Amino acid sequence: MDKLWTGRFRKPLEEAANDFNSSIAVDSRMFREDILGSIAHVHMLGKQGIVSSQEAETLAAGLAGILADIESGKLEIDFRAEDIHSFVEGELTLRLGDTGKRLHTARSRNDQVAVDTRLYIKARIAKLTEALKTLIKTVCDIADKNKDTIMAGYTHLQMAQPVTFAEHLLAYAYMFLRDASRLRDCKARMDYSPLGCCALAGTTFPIDRRMTARELGFADIVKNSMDGVSDRDYCVELASALSIIMMHLSRFCEEIILWSSWEFKYIELDDGYSTGSSIMPQKKNPDIAELVRGKTGRVYGNLIGLLTMLKGLPLAYNKDMQEDKEALFDSVDTALSCLSLFNGMLSTMTVLKDNMERAAAKGFINATDCADYLVKKGMPFRTAYKITGGLIAYCIEKKKALEELSLQEFQEYSNLFEADIYAALDLKVCVAGRISEGGPSAPSVEAQIRDCSEKLSEL
Ligand code: ARG
Repeated sequence: MDKLWTGRFRKPLEEAANDFNSSIAVDSRMFREDILGSIAHVHMLGKQGIVSSQEAETLAAGLAGILADIESGKLEIDFRAEDIHSFVEGELTLRLGDTGKRLHTARSRNDQVAVDTRLYIKARIAKLTEALKTLIKTVCDIADKNKDTIMAGYTHLQMAQPVTFAEHLLAYAYMFLRDASRLRDCKARMDYSPLGCCALAGTTFPIDRRMTARELGFADIVKNSMDGVSDRDYCVELASALSIIMMHLSRFCEEIILWSSWEFKYIELDDGYSTGSSIMPQKKNPDIAELVRGKTGRVYGNLIGLLTMLKGLPLAYNKDMQEDKEALFDSVDTALSCLSLFNGMLSTMTVLKDNMERAAAKGFINATDCADYLVKKGMPFRTAYKITGGLIAYCIEKKKALEELSLQEFQEYSNLFEADIYAALDLKVCVAGRISEGGPSAPSVEAQIRDCSEKLSEL
């Protein structure tokens, strides 16, 4: 297939240079967007009288035929072509002769690739949002079943205060909700059609950019022709939103890996999401969680790659920008597969409630509640803190939990301790008492689940 730009050149591109220059291996996946963009373009050319209405009809039908043939497998994409735009135009010209050669009137590959990419991204954002919504629902469902599952909350990976497994999980539900709203913002900011910006300086033909924007489902048009073909901030923004999603998934994975270890045993992963060792027969490894955590690095890498690729480019189009798609598509594919696999892994894991509760009983996580008890009896907090610290040191020495001390032992530290201290130290009571908004008590967790499902329905 001839290059679109033959004419000025005396000899063909070196084969190696041709392979290096070609982007079809990456951009062929945008064939649908490319063809729909071209169909909108020829509709507009026809309506504006830039081509005859007969020619517009022939062109549109020819393009629709190519789309149908690629989709049915009748037409194979030729990977020797320079890019998907050249392939479609070349195929159209093969089929229609001279009429096919009118397609590229008042257009450039520079606005064409920008419109294709934006259309493709919009569709992917919809898929990513669905995947996030599914995951948020899974998280809320598990939280709903674990409103009373006492668990140690950690800071510095040291047991800190009593929470419920539901409270812990819902923290992630809110992170994923913000991730989805970041995708929504990103889509809203990129929902402008660059078609008609042409190479960089618009065109002398009487085009109607709003007509193509409407047909392609854009909210509006890009208002500056050089901006329309120069910027890729929407790619950076999506790569950044995807990096944040991966960061959240990766933290969650890290916890799942810890929780599934023998030392924790808070959860057990389903066999369908675990692997074994080739030498150690006892092993059950959380490979899926580890891979999601590991793949986070490449998504960050793609973001840095995009930012770096763009940082020194003079306006308007530069071929460097062809690199945007490989990075972005890799991030989109990676995030989509990670979201789906993670959801499968999470929804099938077994929560070992008893183990969580047993572990929670060991770490003095009711120490703050002990200090609060004294405060409620009139003692200033800092004094109560110190007295409780002394009690903890005593417990460690005696190898006892706080609630295992006798009332007499308590009273050696403060005469404000009375028989009701034992109820105050009960972990269930400690959790139920945390009624502050957003806290782990059952009513607060229920309110969070309701709030999440409301936010989900707004996405
Ligand atoms: N494959 C190119 C890209 O992805 C398409 C635009 C080419 N434009 C050009 N003037 N060479 O950026």
